[in-house]
Amino acid sequence: MQISESQEQSKLRRAPMDDGGMDTANAIDILTKQHREVEALFAELQGQEKVPSKTKQKVFEKLAEKIELHTKLEEKIFYPQAKPLDTDTVLEAFEEHDGVKALLKKLKATKPADESFDAKISVLKEMIQHHVEEEEGELFPTCEAELDPEAFDAMGMKMQEMMARSGSSAARTNGRGKGKTKANRKH
Ligand SMILES: [Fe+2]
Ligand SMILES: [Fe+2]
Repeated sequence: MQISESQEQSKLRRAPMDDGGMDTANAIDILTKQHREVEALFAELQGQEKVPSKTKQKVFEKLAEKIELHTKLEEKIFYPQAKPLDTDTVLEAFEEHDGVKALLKKLKATKPADESFDAKISVLKEMIQHHVEEEEGELFPTCEAELDPEAFDAMGMKMQEMMARSGSSAARTNGRGKGKTKANRKH
């Protein structure tokens, strides 16, 4: 594939991003944005000052919901397309998701006041950090180089449908649209 062509495709793919409903967002944009949102929730949980247990519980519930939705989108929609391009990484990613889910389950059964809660959150964060680095550093670039822009848009549409069906607050990835779009950032 020629470099100029792939850059052009990349531009096309990334241009139509809108905060309001993400109607035309492509799959990589959706997943990457969710990664940043998960990171922001970890930062809330591990703030400099002591976070009250009640707040911790609320933020954790939001975090768990977001991670569960995100892993579902990847496992049902993105990984099947990515697997033929990088089978080893995708198989590892499935296993890492399982590890994350198991720890989430433990955390759900742990009260924020419990002495092990913060330790579990730290380990969860490390697991996810490593996983996200592989996705954004290897898997996403591989897919961007190999798949057509249309494939990303089609996956993006399916993800939006799945998010709408889930009806969860985790599906609201961006609050109430502040107008910061990928398209804006291009200029
Ligand atoms: Fe993942
Ligand atoms: Fe991910």
